[in-house]
This record gives sequence, C-alpha cells and structure tokens, in this order.
Amino acid sequence: MTSPASPAPASIGPVICVVGARPNFMKMAPILRALAAHEPPIPALLVHTGQHYDHGMSHQLFIDLRLPQPDINLEVGSGSHAVQTAEVMRRFEPVIDEHKPSCVLVVGDVNSTLACTLVAVKRNVPVAHVEAGLRSYDRKMPEEINRVLTDQVADRLYTTERSAADNLLREGVAPERVCFAGNVMIDSLLDSRERARSAADTLRQHGLDAALLQHPKGYGVVTMHRPSNVDDAVTLRGLLETLAMVARDLPLVFAMHPRTRSNIERFGLGGLLDPARVAVLPPQGYLEMVGLMGGAALVLTDSGGLQEETTALGVPCLTMRENTERPITVEQGTNTMVGRERAAILAGVADILEGRGKRGRVPEYWDGHAAERIAADLWPWLQAGGH
Ligand code: UD1
Repeated sequence: MTSPASPAPASIGPVICVVGARPNFMKMAPILRALAAHEPPIPALLVHTGQHYDHGMSHQLFIDLRLPQPDINLEVGSGSHAVQTAEVMRRFEPVIDEHKPSCVLVVGDVNSTLACTLVAVKRNVPVAHVEAGLRSYDRKMPEEINRVLTDQVADRLYTTERSAADNLLREGVAPERVCFAGNVMIDSLLDSRERARSAADTLRQHGLDAALLQHPKGYGVVTMHRPSNVDDAVTLRGLLETLAMVARDLPLVFAMHPRTRSNIERFGLGGLLDPARVAVLPPQGYLEMVGLMGGAALVLTDSGGLQEETTALGVPCLTMRENTERPITVEQGTNTMVGRERAAILAGVADILEGRGKRGRVPEYWDGHAAERIAADLWPWLQAGGH
C-alpha cells in the first residue's frame, strides 16, 4: 500500500471519477479529497452522468458534501434501463477519447457505474471499482446485475467488508485484484456529523410541526424507493398501510423519493398516511438525513446506504427487503431484515421500542480513512499502468 521508490512518470492522465445517482455522491466526495491530498497529488476529473438531476437528488448533495462542481455533465436524465445505460455509454466514450485517463474510477452499483465501466474497458482504460463484491444474490435487482458485471471487467476492486472478497473469488476474480479498503460512505458520514442539521429544523423548514418529534418514544425515519417495493400497487399499498400502523405508536418522518411519490399519486394511495403522524418530506439533503437518522429511535428503509449509515451511527435499522448485499450490517451492525410482511415489520418495531433493538458495533475499516487507503493503493497501481 506504499508508493514505490521509483520516481513518478512525467505525467499520468487524470483519474476520471464517475458519479451519476444520489448514492454515488457521498462515496465520491472523500475519494476526490484523498486523491488531491495524496503526495504527489493524483490528478482527477469529475464526470456526472446526470442520471439524477433534481436539485434535491443531486445539486444539494454536492453542496452538503463539499463536492466540486463536475468538470463534465453528460445530462442523460431518466429513461428505461436500456435507454439510460446506452445514453451514458454513448456520451461517455468521447470523454475518454478526449481526456486519455490513466483510469476510470466508479463507485456503487447504479446504471451509470456499469455504463462507464463498459465504455472504459472497451477502450482499454483500466477501471477501479469502489464498493466491489457486494452481492444480494437477487438477480431481479437491477443493482445486482450492475455489481456482477462491473466486478467481472473492472481491474482494481476495493471492498467495504471482508465477505465481499469471498463473493468475488467465487466468481473467479483473481485475489490480486481485490483490496480491502473499508467504507468510503462512512468517511463522509464522520466528516459531516458535526455539520448535520437537527431534525426539528428540518421539519420546521418544510412548514411542519416539530412537536411530532417530541413523542415519548421518539420518532422513526422512513425511506423507500426500491422498484420491488414501490412499483406494484398492491405491494405499495400493503407497505403504506403497515407504516400507518407503525405511526400509531411512533411518529414517522418519511423522506420520499420521486419514484415513490409519483407511484403513490398514480395508484391513488395518498390518503393512507395520516399527516398528523407521518411527516412526508421531499428527498432530503445529506446534512438533513444525517441529522434525522442520528436522532431517530429507528430507521425503516429499503436503501443500501442507510443500512450502513445506521450501523455506523448505532441506530437500529429495519430493512424492508428479503435480502441484503451488506451482510455485515446484520452480523455486526444494527440492521435487521424484516422483509415486506406486515407482522414481521410490526414485530421488529415493537422489539426496538421495547428496548430489544440491536446495539451493534462499527465494522473494521469503517473508520473515516477508507478513501486515504484507496488513494495510497491507487497510486502505485496507476504507475504500473493499471495492471
Ligand atoms: C437509482 C439507482 C438505485 C439507487 C437510487 C437512489 C439504478 C439502477 N438505480 O434508482 O440503485 O438506490 O438511484 O435514488 O441505477 N427522478 C426524478 N429526479 C431525479 C432522478 C430521478 O424525479 O433527479 C425520478 C424519475 O421519474 C425517474 C425515477 O425517479 O424515472 C427513477 O430514477 P432512476 O435514476 O431511473 O432510478 P432510481 O429509482 O432513482
């Protein structure tokens, strides 16, 4: 992990760092800082594919995370998986041709991650994938396809937990390609905690009564946007009814993804959540989310990132999915998988409210220094030509 004694080549091309969707931004912010702080500095170029484009889904997070403005924005916007992926590929290829990067660095598992990886490897540009090796073993999740394919063709694979290397080796990946670096998302979390906005301020900013948070049991935070939970009317209705039942015991703050909001409208389910018990907010900034989660009695979610953030914060998390690609959050952290069945969700909430929630511990290398470890490993690898 140390730089070789040999002098650096006169110049190396920039590392093209790719972001596209909301969960990418908190991963990339510490990486960009670590590349700049490396001695010698590692040149970087930030490309935003524009997969997410709303102020609340993108721009606000750049501000909160102190991300520089992207050098290039491909402005692909929304579309079907095929259209979105193809459009990113079509627009990213000329960027590679123009800037001659030493490597393309991708994070996470969104469509932009896979699209840019495919373009780069076909142009013989090495690819580094941060958050490699996570597997839900559920091929119906678009993210799982993105993870498997990205890891097969990427050259350097940075993992967040040790089980990820086992997954990669099972898929025939050579162990030399894998580096256990830790969790860059937790770098961002630790960096931002002191700047987090209080939950009361967040509610007030949206004209909502912060007294909701003063319940003797506290409050719960909800996020939910997985297609498997929100794209089918019957499933979505069932989950909203369950949340309404939870809210009778524990007030909820629901930061609602645009996909969820539009499906609730489309299916006519808007009346299921009592505004006196459930504060529905638009997608929140990063500092708002950290503040909301940090003060919560529990978090109910289907997000990947929140499973990890709650583990790092020591806040009990109930994940409304059948599987997780982040098993360490269950084995060591505060996460419990409750699926989508009402009884299991209500039992999980009751356990936590009765003091039986998981305390958990913070996993290895979720220590705020993952991005530094990546930069330290990347530099000699780049000097060797990415092989
Ligand atoms: C994507 C990721 C998912 C991640 C999620 C976080 C993939 C396959 N999925 O899902 O892993 O957890 O981001 O949000 O890449 N929309 C807006 N404004 C925006 C962006 C999207 O209104 O800025 C709406 C559009 O109606 C769009 C829909 O949200 O069609 C879905 O957006 P999309 O990027 O396709 O997928 P996500 O569900 O956000």
